[in-house]
Amino acid sequence: MLREEFPLLRDNPLVYLDSAATTQKPEGVIDRLKRFYEEENANVHRALYPLGDGATALYEGSRKIVKKFLNAPSSREIVFTSGTTGSLNFLAEVFGETLSRGDHILLTEMEHHSNLVPWQMAAKRHGLILDFIPVNGKGRLDLSWMGRNWSDRTKLVSLTHISNLLGTVNPLEEIIAFAHRRGVPVAVDGAQSVSRIPVDVRELDCDFFVFSGHKVYGPTGIGVLYGKEHLLERLPPRFGGGSMISSVTLEESTWAELPQRFEAGTPPIAQAVGLGEALSWLESRGREKISRHERNLTAYGVDRLRSLEGIELYGTGEEDQLGVISFNLTGLHAHDGVQFLAQGNLALRAGHHCAQPLIRKLGVPSAIRASFAAYSRESDVDRLAEALTETRSFFRKRGVL
Ligand code: ALA
Repeated sequence: MLREEFPLLRDNPLVYLDSAATTQKPEGVIDRLKRFYEEENANVHRALYPLGDGATALYEGSRKIVKKFLNAPSSREIVFTSGTTGSLNFLAEVFGETLSRGDHILLTEMEHHSNLVPWQMAAKRHGLILDFIPVNGKGRLDLSWMGRNWSDRTKLVSLTHISNLLGTVNPLEEIIAFAHRRGVPVAVDGAQSVSRIPVDVRELDCDFFVFSGHKVYGPTGIGVLYGKEHLLERLPPRFGGGSMISSVTLEESTWAELPQRFEAGTPPIAQAVGLGEALSWLESRGREKISRHERNLTAYGVDRLRSLEGIELYGTGEEDQLGVISFNLTGLHAHDGVQFLAQGNLALRAGHHCAQPLIRKLGVPSAIRASFAAYSRESDVDRLAEALTETRSFFRKRGVL
């Protein structure tokens, strides 16, 4: 059974429902990291000895795995970063630099802070204007807004594939086609989708796609920025240092080819190797199968929680909600709820989920979030439903509800 491959979950009564924050790691990934450090560790792109050549081959091999995983046309389009936040900060900074005062960037109201704050910073620095596709009462983007409000100075659309708070799967094809008809590129935050939907960047035709290793069964400290080659070629480097140059004099430098130009200094080598292992693991266990599993589990969870009294559910509650269920116990602060649940060995996140504008729009200060991964079970959802009933009864008895 797939769950047995996760040492942290094996023989553990913990009901782990926080996979949107980070996924647990399969044994193969943990072993791969250990083997790298025990037998293969050296710096990359510098060492002219077999151990160094081997490490470089492993690191670049992982880039090829990522390329294949995303179905990207070329490895030159795969840049390793520190994670989704690192990728989006990079993009906001360097793409922002190529724009003129008064240019627009289009985001949405459902972005994680990592796809909002870097753009606010870039907007301040470069005099840009940020527009937002609104979220409607059902938790979906109001796409009709684009037809009415599109600015002809829009230079990039950057949006999440799946909302980390509501689980809404955005209709990327439609948005990308709309932007492309106007000659505008689209960046996709795939942090919550890359483990849940088999992503094919060629089919999607997105211009940038970013994700984190640790949300796709891999290590922390590694992420990916995919970008179409002709767009990456136009971007200036963000960090200067070793590995990213072609030649250096005391006065000036010229840049290395893609993608090295964007990977200054010693990169996260072991993490890249671990990420390659994680993506190969996911591929071998069946991306479609795992996607279906999470779809079924989400639908089961929504039904189960809907049937309980005193629960306010957020999100579409339909087929376009995937992997994430957010809710509140009516009248109870989300933090009190998750603390009570934690005493029963259930791990859920509560708060604003790094999406303050969206939580504000829902009209609540915070929410509880249950989120799934390949190893999550219906019995986890059943246990959550029971524990929510216990929570309600505990707080009612004490006159809190
Ligand atoms: N971005 C992660 C989350 O939504 C941490 O929980």
